[in-house]
Amino acid sequence: MSMDDGLELGFSTLDSEVTERSLPVEGSLPEWLSGAFVRNGPAAFEVDGDRVAHWFDGLAMLHRFAFEGTDDEIRYTNRFLGSETRRRARDRGELDGQFATGSGGALERLRQIAFGEPTDNCNVHVAAIDGRLVAMTEVPRYVELDPETLTTRGEFAFADDLGGHINCAHVIPDPHRGETVGLLTTFGRPSEYTLYRVADGARRREEIATIATDEPAYIHSFALTESFVVLTEHPFVTRPLSFLLPGGESFVDQYDWHPERGTRFHVLDRDTGERVATAEADPWFVFHHANAFERGGSDGSETDGADELVVDLVAYPDPGVVDGLYLDEVAEWFRSGMDGELRRFTVPLDGERATSERRYAGVEMPRVAPADRTREYRYVYGQGAAERDGNHVAKVDIETGESRRWEESGTFVEEPVFVRAPGAERPSDEGVVLVTALNTTEARTDLLVLDGETLAERARAPLPHAVPFGFHGRYFPEW
Ligand code: CO
Repeated sequence: MSMDDGLELGFSTLDSEVTERSLPVEGSLPEWLSGAFVRNGPAAFEVDGDRVAHWFDGLAMLHRFAFEGTDDEIRYTNRFLGSETRRRARDRGELDGQFATGSGGALERLRQIAFGEPTDNCNVHVAAIDGRLVAMTEVPRYVELDPETLTTRGEFAFADDLGGHINCAHVIPDPHRGETVGLLTTFGRPSEYTLYRVADGARRREEIATIATDEPAYIHSFALTESFVVLTEHPFVTRPLSFLLPGGESFVDQYDWHPERGTRFHVLDRDTGERVATAEADPWFVFHHANAFERGGSDGSETDGADELVVDLVAYPDPGVVDGLYLDEVAEWFRSGMDGELRRFTVPLDGERATSERRYAGVEMPRVAPADRTREYRYVYGQGAAERDGNHVAKVDIETGESRRWEESGTFVEEPVFVRAPGAERPSDEGVVLVTALNTTEARTDLLVLDGETLAERARAPLPHAVPFGFHGRYFPEW
């Protein structure tokens, strides 16, 4: 890898942890901004001098930016997740149970994936479940953190016996229904996708529906409308019995692209679990959905008679992106531009094919306001692809395709999170966008506060270090 543009800082281990560090703020913050912006991502990439193979395999670190409802104060805390995985890495030099870094060969891999010792290196996302801050990854182990200090409290257990081998780290909190919807995949004969809900303030999951499949897809996220769950089953699939074959392939290496299957949108009723439709589309690989909602219907009621669903997601022509995220490739992938497209899919409920239109080229990590989820809306914020020596924050009017961007030479932004101003009506863009950005010129990360409407910079707070690129975060007004 070349070291000329500083991008490698985004894939270098960060050792330092700070607590309640008051960050200098240039500019001013809206006084209504009171709460915590918490991000998750990998931050250590070496164990006993050996580097992990895949970006997704770095050890989890949490970052918290606390806003006090004053115009000039941000307090910053960062902590490694106190996982068993990290303890084993430190004490015994082992790094196991990971996305694509097979350390133990075929039997170890099989044991981890299929026999219940998945990693607790929860480095993908965070969610509030039962009023607790929970870190999540792609296997069903959950770690609870103190939302103020980010100290690890220990394993988080749901109060039910829903099981699975793969966990969808992108659960969807639905503020309109007061519940969070999630997904588990279980390998077997047949394999199954299990959709569940968990009510706000509860930790018992209820099954919504189960779909059987012989060749389960790698599903990183899904979509929700007012009445339906939409499972986007792209053709990046595995045959679970292949886990029994020798060869030591790691988990993602066992998935294969079968474009002839196309991509299938399974639409399930959120109340009854009934499968309402399966619409086929051209083959697209998908990590992230932006949002979805119902459209049509003659009687005008909210849930009856929708003719079609609108599903907005970031689509790739193939799963080449997965290879692009190996650590020896990922900086080049960042530099050369990510090829994901924000596309709007129309998913008919009458058995016809789903079709799509491109709304923005070169974007990932799409985010919408929490209150816009499941509803017709306007604005998607995302991490725009790199051009020259930096990438950009993209804001897309998903109705019209019009867009705005924020960019700065030498700066690589991460996932932008929009926080709507209190009192602003849906789907207004009045509010702010919180986004961490690697400032390669200064060799540090900055927290940027951008105007939600114009993306103009309202405030900037330099961190005391450079943070390796992470994945996802949420803004929690309650913390
Ligand atoms: Co994700």
